[in-house]
Amino acid sequence: MENAPVIDSHVPLAAPNARLADSNARLIDSFGRLHDNLRVSVTDRCNVRCFYCMPETDVRFVERREILDFEEIERFVRIAVTLGVRKVRITGGEPLVRRDLPVLVRRLAALPGVEDIALTTNGVLLPKLAQPLYEAGLRRINVHLDTLDRERFLRITRRDEISKVLAGLELCKQLGYSKIKLNAVAVKNLVEPDIVPLARFGREHGFEVRYIEFMPLDAQNLWDRKKVLLADDIIRMLSREIAPLVPVPDPDPRAPASEYRFADGVGRVGFIASVSRPFCLNCNRLRLTADGKLRYCLFAIEEDDVKTLLRSGASDDDVAALIRRNVAGKWRGHEINTARFVAPPRPMYAIGG
Ligand code: 5AD
Ligand code: SF4
Repeated sequence: MENAPVIDSHVPLAAPNARLADSNARLIDSFGRLHDNLRVSVTDRCNVRCFYCMPETDVRFVERREILDFEEIERFVRIAVTLGVRKVRITGGEPLVRRDLPVLVRRLAALPGVEDIALTTNGVLLPKLAQPLYEAGLRRINVHLDTLDRERFLRITRRDEISKVLAGLELCKQLGYSKIKLNAVAVKNLVEPDIVPLARFGREHGFEVRYIEFMPLDAQNLWDRKKVLLADDIIRMLSREIAPLVPVPDPDPRAPASEYRFADGVGRVGFIASVSRPFCLNCNRLRLTADGKLRYCLFAIEEDDVKTLLRSGASDDDVAALIRRNVAGKWRGHEINTARFVAPPRPMYAIGG
């Protein structure tokens, strides 16, 4: 009997009751993190060329047929919802360049179980699309804006499009989007002159500016720790020039941003300090790339191929099993701050921020 299979009597072979089955269905990784937040990239294309994300020329985009269609995306999200996903954020590349995006938004917003749908955009196409997206059910939007200065906008994005972004923001405000946020990437020796004007602009219009520490996700390997403008430095600048900043506890302790309010009562700012304050231990996110790969981390090296599964007649259970496997294999976190760090093979535009 020496080689008889060992059966651990503490591990049920089948879920003995519905409640247990339910808790088993949720996506909890080996570090106890619950995954209920899915970011879906709908394209790797973009209408600008931010240097911290894309190369200036010769960008190699995925071919059209390799991109998931709306049916495939909707099916994936529906299955993810059965595993406890509740929040969906649409990203890119630049998601608004995907044709008929409002159709997808409407379909995802209508899925039972999707409690929150949001979108991250560079804003260039908002003058055209803010209204159709609102009508499709979108209410939450993050607009990427690093500077209010036309010259620096051009230097950063390599496109002269700031006026469209500003017009798009104004339109979103008029339409009644709630909690509009501005994403500003914090790059040292570059955006220092923009930090305070952006926060003032946010205070004036009711937008929350979120400063994102420059991360090693650019396409040209420009990143270097010394090029990161750190959250603490920004906090010092804002406190000195505008008003002291007071930390506010986020209602969702797993949100990556550290939130602060200005002590004079006007407005807030947030910091996504991936480099100086890594938040991996609270991470609740999964990412689906435009070409149908599932990633448990922005910086993941490995990924799972959802697209091949979806296109080979797999059942919903097979897809669910793949999602579970991906979460089960999730690492503890990125190691940007160690010598072991390896930049992921995909730059930002090919992952979806
Ligand atoms: N580091 C930090 N943030 C980045 N983004 C793009 N590339 C980088 C980078 N290398 C941000 C953009 C966008 C969001 C999805 O990610 O501001 O709004
Ligand atoms: Fe486009 Fe966003 Fe990348 Fe800028 S950061 S190039 S807007 S995908």
